[in-house]
Amino acid sequence: MSTTSATKHVNFKVGANDWNKTSANYAANVSRTPMSIPITRLIELLDSHSSLSSATSILDIGCGPGSATSQIISSHHATLPTTTQLLATDFSSGMVGAVSQARASKLNELSLGTEKEAWARVTPLVMDAMNLAPLLDNSTSHIIANFVFFMVEDPAKALKETYRVLKPHGVGACSSWSRLQWMESLAIAASRTFPKLNKPTPEMPTVSPSWTSCEGVSEQLKTAGFKEIHTEYVEAPIVMPDVEQFAHFFLTSGNPAVTWITDILDEQEVKEVEKELVQVVRENCEKNDEGAYVLAGTAVVAIGRK
Ligand SMILES: C[S@@+](CC[C@H](N)C(=O)[O-])C[C@H]1O[C@@H](n2cnc3c(N)ncnc32)[C@H](O)[C@@H]1O
Repeated sequence: MSTTSATKHVNFKVGANDWNKTSANYAANVSRTPMSIPITRLIELLDSHSSLSSATSILDIGCGPGSATSQIISSHHATLPTTTQLLATDFSSGMVGAVSQARASKLNELSLGTEKEAWARVTPLVMDAMNLAPLLDNSTSHIIANFVFFMVEDPAKALKETYRVLKPHGVGACSSWSRLQWMESLAIAASRTFPKLNKPTPEMPTVSPSWTSCEGVSEQLKTAGFKEIHTEYVEAPIVMPDVEQFAHFFLTSGNPAVTWITDILDEQEVKEVEKELVQVVRENCEKNDEGAYVLAGTAVVAIGRK
């Protein structure tokens, strides 16, 4: 599929306030997105490189509503040491607030046992990935950062901080996007709609080329000092049983994937893009065996050791 900005790279310019605005929607809908697929793989990689049963502390950087922390607890609560600290950090106070809410709900609904005890040890903290200053050098055994570093202003600084706080032999795992067919489709929908609205088509932000391939991400980790680096591609598609419903959810999500368009259009104009997006999906996307359209998504997942 072609895109409107195949050659030029335009950075995502997304501050903590932008993420605050979408945190409630993100927290409510994260299970409908493909985020958990790479998280599952990142956790497997962390565990196989350095068993989570030996974790002293697990740091979730750019935790959002706590997706990775939550999956780690769900899959490993029985084997995590009872002393493991779980730090869920994000520069958006809205996201950190969502983790606090999730923690409170879990503590309320779970009966006594290792899962509840693990949630009790979760500390949600507002912290910028590029400055983990409250955390000491050599203090953390495991770090996970799902779809974060490629979006920060200075990814090299974030990786340097990650490396600094890891204990010697500690492991850090992160992910990035190699391909996002939902953004490619949105760019096509925008290129068809904006001329009809007599407005110049904005340029779609894209992931920096150094974060879209295994080789590129591997190089970033190497530069930060990591050893024993492993990278791989993971397919993380969006499956849409109902295309109209998906297009509406996507365009009203306030997610940085759509705000480059929705911030400069009124409600009626956004509806025009929404209709066009449905059309683009129908034209370009494959259907699965259940008849649902599939938007391809490919993640790069990576792990390295200090
Ligand atoms: C695509 S979301 C991923 C959230 C979560 N890791 C998940 O898997 O659902 C990116 C997250 O990174 C956070 N983020 C972006 N830049 C950041 C920075 N400089 N420091 C800390 N968090 C940041 C955002 O607030 C947002 O929660």
